Amino acid sequence: MQKLIQDFTGLYGSAPTVAARAPGRLEILGNHTDYNQGFVLSCAVEQDTRFALRPVSGKHCRIKDFRDGSTREFDLDDIATATPKDWSNYIKGVIVELEKRGLRVGAFDAAMESSVPLSAGMSSSAALETAAGFAFREAFGIKLADADWARVGQGVENNYMGLKSGLLDQFSSIFGKKDSMILSDFRSVEVLRTVPLPHGYSIVVINSMAKHNLVDSEYNVRRQDCESAAEKLAQIYPDVKTLRDVSLEQLEAARPALAEREFRRALHVVGECTRVLEAVRLLEKNDIEGFGRLWFESHESSRINFENSTPELDYLVELAKSVPGGLGARLSGGGFGGITIHLVKSEGAEEYARRVQAGYKTRTGINAEYIICAIGDGATSQKL
Ligand code: GLA
Repeated sequence: MQKLIQDFTGLYGSAPTVAARAPGRLEILGNHTDYNQGFVLSCAVEQDTRFALRPVSGKHCRIKDFRDGSTREFDLDDIATATPKDWSNYIKGVIVELEKRGLRVGAFDAAMESSVPLSAGMSSSAALETAAGFAFREAFGIKLADADWARVGQGVENNYMGLKSGLLDQFSSIFGKKDSMILSDFRSVEVLRTVPLPHGYSIVVINSMAKHNLVDSEYNVRRQDCESAAEKLAQIYPDVKTLRDVSLEQLEAARPALAEREFRRALHVVGECTRVLEAVRLLEKNDIEGFGRLWFESHESSRINFENSTPELDYLVELAKSVPGGLGARLSGGGFGGITIHLVKSEGAEEYARRVQAGYKTRTGINAEYIICAIGDGATSQKL
């Protein structure tokens, strides 16, 4: 953060008055369950986005992204709609969502820096929304509960960007706990408990390098399939509000009432909710191998039932089954490209990652970047 503050001061000629940071996240298990009001096991990572800001008079805002050196400028009166494919949307969208809630952001000079990989599935956009939002909170005295800050970020995605995503990304970026996963319930929208990653094991992120841009993906279509499946199931089981309420037995019994595609989408979501709760039970017994097997099962269900995998992601997960040290692997996040996560013994994690990388290179010619991830704390902000 110190470096960003110095660079800000060098650029604008005076120091920022507030600063905030928000991490990226990994979805450990619980794929596409959030908008079905289900369970997710996730964590924040140490890679984060930092945002420094100084209020100015008038309506004109300037933002520098020190990651690529680009700059954006806009007037607060001129941000009602998004600019196609532009990173400043994730900041302008936050201001618009706050305005809808009667909360006012004034003009500012800002600068940011980030170590969250872009378009990879580690929620670089949620990290930016949250870092900017938390900086606005400090600078303009905005009072909102933490879960509502997650809703502001989700509103940016849903309303400004047109991606009908759930709350997982912003929620994990805000509520993450160092060295622990968090078990969240997206019906009550709360963290039920923290679940430590057993000592001696690490999560390796291996990026397929196939860009995952959810706005242009079939994400919204998957969500529609889930909702139409839930509606049909509700006609049979009146207590069903979302797929979260359906058991595997109920789903099997109702199969004839669903289109084949709806059945498979629902099977994925119901299976993921079950796997999340099973994972917590297995970790209580220190059954790390069983935990890893659930990662493979989750990926297989993505591949066959939810169809949000890609040949590249499948191949990275296949490699995990043959490279020594791999206990489990799966796609993480929306899918349709981006990253895989691998559960490995910490000792030998580097060697494991290099071997998977080499195997992937031989088959695809692509150099998959990897990160041996440390689980970090959620977002913070401060007055300077
Ligand atoms: C993306 C969305 C989240 C969630 C995941 C899949 O990350 O932004 O809301 O739906 O995909 O679990």
